[in-house]
Amino acid sequence: MISPFRNDLLKDHKILITGGGSGLGKSLALGFATLGASVAICGRRRDVLEETAAELNKIGGTHFFDTCDVRKPDEVARVVDGAFSSLGQLTGLINNAAGNFVCPTEALSANAFNAVVGIVLNGTFHCTQAVAKHWIEKKQAGSVINICTTYAWTGSALVVPSVCAKAGVLAMTRSLAVEWGRHNIRLNAIAPGPFKTEGAWKNLMPAGFEKFLVDKNPMKRLGTHEELVTLAALLLSGSVNYINGDCITIDGGEWLQGAGQFNGLLTVPPEQLEQLKR
Ligand code: HXC
Ligand code: NAP
Repeated sequence: MISPFRNDLLKDHKILITGGGSGLGKSLALGFATLGASVAICGRRRDVLEETAAELNKIGGTHFFDTCDVRKPDEVARVVDGAFSSLGQLTGLINNAAGNFVCPTEALSANAFNAVVGIVLNGTFHCTQAVAKHWIEKKQAGSVINICTTYAWTGSALVVPSVCAKAGVLAMTRSLAVEWGRHNIRLNAIAPGPFKTEGAWKNLMPAGFEKFLVDKNPMKRLGTHEELVTLAALLLSGSVNYINGDCITIDGGEWLQGAGQFNGLLTVPPEQLEQLKR
């Protein structure tokens, strides 16, 4: 895909991406660096971070990585302080780190529920608060993007810890957009449909499920990482700063397809629809 942006769109931007060593977080990190940003990435696995940091350094610019479990506020504080001191004032935060698995709700242990909610909801809170404290103290503007899901508002069977956590993230996004607007701190969310990543596919996609998702999507395909990077870069760029507290869906129309009562008629043979004519 040809980027619609100038190569220096994110020059002078300094962006922390949680879970930036792999999956969509890695694509965001590499994409932002290509547009001139300095990027800080964190996650639990050092080897994964090192590999992505090496790719970032090949693109050029100054970047930073450190290990961190976003469930632990002290580790988050260390990473956030490290990112501010090695890159200078951060301008953006992407809360992207997530954990998720498929499990019938009656079989979930308390620890299983807490593991996912701890990463997605508590982790987003820890990172957002730690970064915003710096911004508010220094009277500096900032932009937060929370990577959400469409089932934050539809709900979904079999992934209830993630559903509850993402719904909380969406509520947090909207609440803080209002609370911190006066500090010139904007918060938005992005709700992706299916985008192929190793983490999501390993944890959530039994054989045949990718085909199911593609077949039921109005666009008949998965999302591309470039599409997600482009949307996030636009939100960070400063060109659309009046967007605050919103959640932008990028799913090919997937959730609407499931919601509209008569959408199922698209699979009914035309001659059967003819029978409705009087
Ligand atoms: C039931 C499970 C389980 C499973 C773990 N547990 N996997 N229960 N079914 N498949 C339980 C464990 O038994 C344990 O409970 C508790 O969860 C914590 O497990 P740990 O392995 O100790 O946790 P931890 O090492 O912290 O790992 C966190 C994790 C793991 C969430 C469990 O899956 C992870 O690290 N995931 C990161 C990658 C990921 O999930 N990516 C997907 C993101 S995609 P007990 O009671 O035994 O102690 C996404 C949206 C996708 O979010 C939408 C796609 C279209
Ligand atoms: P992924 O490939 O599994 O990546 C998740 C990232 O989060 C990894 O880098 C992981 O690194 C990090 N992470 C997990 N637990 C962490 C923790 N406790 N502390 C710090 N980092 C942690 O997932 P993905 O598919 O790229 O998803 C990225 C985001 O998009 C998530 O918020 C997900 O919910 C959302 N999303 C994805 C899809 C999709 O189709 N892929 C659809 C909708 C929404 P470590 O394991 O090294 O910690």
